[in-house]
Amino acid sequence: MIDIHSHILWDIDDGAKDRDESLAMLKIAADSGTTDIVATPHSDHQYKFDPELVKERILDLTEATGGTPRIHRGCDFHLSLDNVRAAMENHTVFTINGLGYLMVEFADSFIPPATEEILRSLIAQGVAPVITHPERNPILQGSFKRLEKWIGMGCLLQITAQCLTDRFGKAAEKTAWALLKKGMVHVVASDAHDTEHRPPRLDIARDILTREFNAQMASTLLEENPSSIIAGQRVWVEAPVSEGSRKKWFHFWK
Ligand SMILES: [Fe+2]
Repeated sequence: MIDIHSHILWDIDDGAKDRDESLAMLKIAADSGTTDIVATPHSDHQYKFDPELVKERILDLTEATGGTPRIHRGCDFHLSLDNVRAAMENHTVFTINGLGYLMVEFADSFIPPATEEILRSLIAQGVAPVITHPERNPILQGSFKRLEKWIGMGCLLQITAQCLTDRFGKAAEKTAWALLKKGMVHVVASDAHDTEHRPPRLDIARDILTREFNAQMASTLLEENPSSIIAGQRVWVEAPVSEGSRKKWFHFWK
């Protein structure tokens, strides 16, 4: 499986505290069937994103683990004005492996009115935003209209593996399942922060998805789509159910 959202790099944000914890997290990922993991440190008001340090830490951990799992670079990109300006100048600093997909997160309390315009500008520049954990956002939980529109524009949605259970509360769990049933989820990722409470495990999610849907659904969300994303390749996206037809497909360009 391929995990496109994790905070495995030590002492860089609120993820792994030290190098030992990074290594322990990587071992958990490998032991639970993750072959590739994307390190996505925060870039927000609290944590400054340092692309050189990210590369350095990935190199260090790759040497220490022998590349099991393979570590890719990315960023948990907060949609702030400063970040957007920097990405418009050079998005390859923030996108996964410097290619076409950008992990975009929102604050819990506020989604700026200019969001749609910002997403459109990024898309016009050849960047496909991957909206991270909308199921955990109290504003987005209330209505899927915005999310449907963003998907139609060219965004993808990533939900958190632990939200398939009630680890993040009932509202997040309910929203995750509702989005899955509407065909609005394109990737499931761990958003791991540590070894214990938020570990980098996708195996439990795979079992749940296989049981509740089928093995193909689990494979699409945990293997095929994330594999295309880290390689900067096309992801095929089904239109949300509420748009009327499940036969309509959007063709993404990456
Ligand atoms: Fe995150």
